[in-house]
Amino acid sequence: MHIIYTIDDVSNPDKSYVIGDVLITADQISQRVQELGEKISADYADECPLVITVLRGSVIFAADLVRNIDCPLEMDFLSVSSYGQSTKSSGAVKILKDLDTDVAGRDVLIVEDIIDSGLTLNYLVNYIAGQKPASIKTCSLLLRNLDPENEPPLDYYGFKIPDEFVVGYGLDYAQMYRNLPDISILVEEE
Ligand code: IMP
Ligand code: MG
Repeated sequence: MHIIYTIDDVSNPDKSYVIGDVLITADQISQRVQELGEKISADYADECPLVITVLRGSVIFAADLVRNIDCPLEMDFLSVSSYGQSTKSSGAVKILKDLDTDVAGRDVLIVEDIIDSGLTLNYLVNYIAGQKPASIKTCSLLLRNLDPENEPPLDYYGFKIPDEFVVGYGLDYAQMYRNLPDISILVEEE
């Protein structure tokens, strides 16, 4: 069955979007997540990191990533808003759900789905650094368009992608498409 998802861009009622070409297949993701897991396992061999997943886009990546990490670890989650319903960043980061774990003295690994401007990750690194962890590392599945003026400290990443809005494997447009197993480009409907 071939499903075409169509939704309207709520910020522009004249435009609607459809799923375009697959950019990264589920198999390619799986292979890369395994490699990242091996690297992270080696780096944290003697520690029990606190893996902090940024809701909601990173949930599927984090779920696969932790199952490829073979050292003991804990997980916690926080939620931030920055994009709203649009494909353009609003530029403001807000914490919607805070951590439940005390990060003081912990080795923290922040897991993100995608770094665009770097605003979200920079904000989170500063926020968590203020709570005196033993260390902070960052991991993002995707990396796009890094603004050199605002480059976040990124220790691990999966793929560099071109300047396109992507959905699938946890990434959404207006909360849709997170369940698609591949990562695909969102294109404007002709
Ligand atoms: P940044 O703060 O500009 O780096 O944006 C990062 C956040 O924006 C990510 O955590 C995503 O939630 C969201 N985002 C950025 N680009 C995309 C995309 O192509 N698809 C879906 N979400 C995206
Ligand atoms: Mg996100």
